[in-house]
Amino acid sequence: MNNQIHLTYHVSPDDFTRAGEASSDVKSKLKQMGVSPEVVRKVAIAMYEGEINMVIHAKGGTIDVTISADEILMVLADKGPGIPDIELAMQDGYSTAPDNVRALGFGAGMGLPNMKKYSDDMEIQTVLGVGTTVIMKVFP
Ligand SMILES: Nc1ncnc2c1ncn2[C@@H]1O[C@H](COP(=O)(O)OP(=O)(O)OP(=O)(O)O)[C@@H](O)[C@H]1O
Ligand SMILES: [Mg+2]
Repeated sequence: MNNQIHLTYHVSPDDFTRAGEASSDVKSKLKQMGVSPEVVRKVAIAMYEGEINMVIHAKGGTIDVTISADEILMVLADKGPGIPDIELAMQDGYSTAPDNVRALGFGAGMGLPNMKKYSDDMEIQTVLGVGTTVIMKVFP
């Protein structure tokens, strides 16, 4: 009745070859569970962007996902530099990604706006020099 599934992923720093593994694993697990394609897509996009941000802007971190009947909860926690101005960071096109990262196709400044768009609820907790935690929920 009250079944919950917990998944934990460790996101490695600066490893672009593995970036996206956590979100694709969650995507396939949700599909297997018969979750609707629309919900799977929302979770996959929101989590992928958050996961990539952890690789690019923080030094990796941990993602905890809790899947239950009434919500899919994603908690992305890193010990990176923190976000000095969340309102600015949330703006379409704002990015501090360095040139070597832009050369790989990242840095359009659309990750956070898309996380907001594709999740049903998003909260950012950040402390400069300590880290950032992004909490997103998708309601199936
Ligand atoms: N986990 C994080 N830790 C520190 N800073 C972050 C984090 N996530 C985002 N930021 C800051 O917010 C900015 C905007 O993030 P956003 O994901 O929208 O764009 P981006 O990652 O730069 O580019 P894109 O996601 O389009 O590839 C980043 O450039 C960075 O300065
Ligand atoms: Mg991003």
